[in-house]
Amino acid sequence: MIRILANDGIHEDGKTLLEEAGYEVITDKIPQEELIEKLPNFDVIIIRSATKVRKDLIDACPNLKIIARAGVGIDNIDHEYARSVGKVVINTPAASSQSVAELTFAHIFSLSRYLYDANRKMPSQGDSQFKKLKKSYSAGVQLRGKTIGIIGFGRIGQEVARIALGLGMNILPVDPYVETASISLAAPGNDAAFTVNLRTVEMELMLSKADFITVHVPGGNVLGHDQIAKMKNGVRLVNTSRGGVISEDALLEGLNSGKIAGAGLDVFVGEPTPKKELLEHPLISVTPHIGASTLQAQSNIGLELADKILAHFGDDK
Ligand code: MLT
Repeated sequence: MIRILANDGIHEDGKTLLEEAGYEVITDKIPQEELIEKLPNFDVIIIRSATKVRKDLIDACPNLKIIARAGVGIDNIDHEYARSVGKVVINTPAASSQSVAELTFAHIFSLSRYLYDANRKMPSQGDSQFKKLKKSYSAGVQLRGKTIGIIGFGRIGQEVARIALGLGMNILPVDPYVETASISLAAPGNDAAFTVNLRTVEMELMLSKADFITVHVPGGNVLGHDQIAKMKNGVRLVNTSRGGVISEDALLEGLNSGKIAGAGLDVFVGEPTPKKELLEHPLISVTPHIGASTLQAQSNIGLELADKILAHFGDDK
């Protein structure tokens, strides 16, 4: 029997599909340090971002056939090494794009109207300081007519653009690998769509014009001191991709100097223990890496992974 360890969980829809095919799916979490001893008994491991599959673990599991990432990024897997020793590495590049894009806008709305701060202060101060708090949030900004810079114009970046178009924002996408993209504006299943063609621009131009900047790249350090210095005063930044793609030190410096008006962070260097200074900063809206954490995205991810695993093993149970 094919044994699957879904160490960071799997949506019930995907689990059911695998179990109906006769596979055993274990969802009890095995701590990282015990995997080296326990994973050799499995054919497949499914992980999200918490579990790491590094070379030492791969070497300890000669019978492991598939390493499946329930999500987009495979940075927590030594994927090149895994493939070089015959393991199959799979992920779900498209299943969570809309959810990540919507979370990006949750942060943009939160930042533009100080929702994160009001939610922190209203429970303890709302009864005595209502008028004072109301006044402190009087410099909110409307999104219509504002310019959003989107760094990384793949699936998620394009979903962000779709929402931004609906809000009447100007869009400046940046991506060295994409020249143009056609964004279709329609609810799923609605034929009355119309399409907007967007052309990417140079980073320098975007940095000098954007009121909001959001980053959708797999990793690296894309925005540091030099790039922040070129941004408009009062810019607001969002990171729902990977911790560190916006340098955390440069971000804090920009927020403390008044150059950056606010930041929305879903991802952090050193997860699951982000820098306290970021979590407690009065100008940062925070969430604990939940971009793909919607029922729809998790169901899509579970079903896509199950299909790929079933296709790999075929009739072999
Ligand atoms: C992704 O890469 O898709 C996300 O980071 C998934 C997750 O939430 O773990």
